[in-house]
Amino acid sequence: MIVDIINKKRMGEELTYQELDYFFNGYLNGEIADYQMSSLLMAICINGMTDEETFALTKLFIDSGDVLDFSDIPGVKIDKHSTGGIGDKTSLIIAPIVAACGGVVIKMSGRGLGYTGGTIDKLESIPGMSIDLSEKELKKQVKNIHLVITGQTGNLVPMDKVIYALRDVTGTVSSIPLIASSVMSKKIASGADKILIDIKVGNGAFLQSKKDAKKLEELMVKIGNFYNREVRCVISDMNVPLGSCIGNSLEVLEAIQILKGEETHNNLVDLCYELSSIMVSMIRNIDEKEARKLVEDSISSLEAYHKFEEMVKAQNGDLSKIKVSNKTMEIKSTKSGIINDINALEIGKLSLALGAGRVKKSDKIDYTVGVKLVKFVGDEVKKGDTLAILYYKNTVPNVSIDTIFNVL
Ligand code: URA
Repeated sequence: MIVDIINKKRMGEELTYQELDYFFNGYLNGEIADYQMSSLLMAICINGMTDEETFALTKLFIDSGDVLDFSDIPGVKIDKHSTGGIGDKTSLIIAPIVAACGGVVIKMSGRGLGYTGGTIDKLESIPGMSIDLSEKELKKQVKNIHLVITGQTGNLVPMDKVIYALRDVTGTVSSIPLIASSVMSKKIASGADKILIDIKVGNGAFLQSKKDAKKLEELMVKIGNFYNREVRCVISDMNVPLGSCIGNSLEVLEAIQILKGEETHNNLVDLCYELSSIMVSMIRNIDEKEARKLVEDSISSLEAYHKFEEMVKAQNGDLSKIKVSNKTMEIKSTKSGIINDINALEIGKLSLALGAGRVKKSDKIDYTVGVKLVKFVGDEVKKGDTLAILYYKNTVPNVSIDTIFNVL
């Protein structure tokens, strides 16, 4: 039976719900071995899945654990997910904006692995901040302030945990149906009514082509419809880092600056305004232009910043105690010209080497280190100008400036 199912998928045929159930639940229960599941995942990766197979797999994922229910809390519950990028602190900015504009934002986030950071690590850089709220604490906070960002509560989608860990080490992460069922099962099990997905494309993301991103978008919207959830997607660039800071405390400080309206013009601000406007239009059933006005007002009135402060206080964090390393080193331009590109992936690697990320799940990260960009794409620079500042702890990793900054 096991080999028959693998062979069926290897030949590009459609698997039934029962076959997928047998295989995936068998794996979760320890009856199917890693090598057998790896083989099926690779066959899926190569031959794809039909929509029916993807819906079936999403259902098996959701049914493998708890499904949260916030229907007793009034208001439209909205969630946002990013497929991950370098310097992506959008959740820290967007969630308070949308809550300030009348949404109920319940966001369960993850930790970073590899080059891309995780929202939970960023929040944890705020001393005292609790990021593993119980379901009871989470509901209380949502009722009181309409905003929570926490680590995953309860036993949500345990099947994704084991399958994702295997995909990570078997070259099977980049399958569109596997990504769609992994992301959407978690979003649906987290109890949101409406969901916005930010699909990143570029060298700092795991999807490299717009065509794949479009396919992923279509599939996630279909899964959302199947589950009666409104799903919108934005496909955004991840070839250059978002904003100026990469590293946990540095990114929280940058998010605060944007929430206070002190930084108004860069790719991060633009993306945050775009995503927030879509979310506000989804919760209030208004057009995006009208929503954009509410978003801008929430920044200029400081309501969004105060929402962020409220959330931090409710989760015992102390913003006055955020620390960045006092050891810094400036990276200087080796030539004069215009900055043509800042390579997101290379910045991600640098930030990881500084200690801001983890290679293995068990690695400890240093919240105080990272990179602050001083110059951006399109800027004119002279030889010797400072391009970026490194915040380091003990040693500075070898930096190859020309692989990061392309000055022409
Ligand atoms: N993020 C997820 O949660 N799952 C995937 O499969 C890829 C990215």
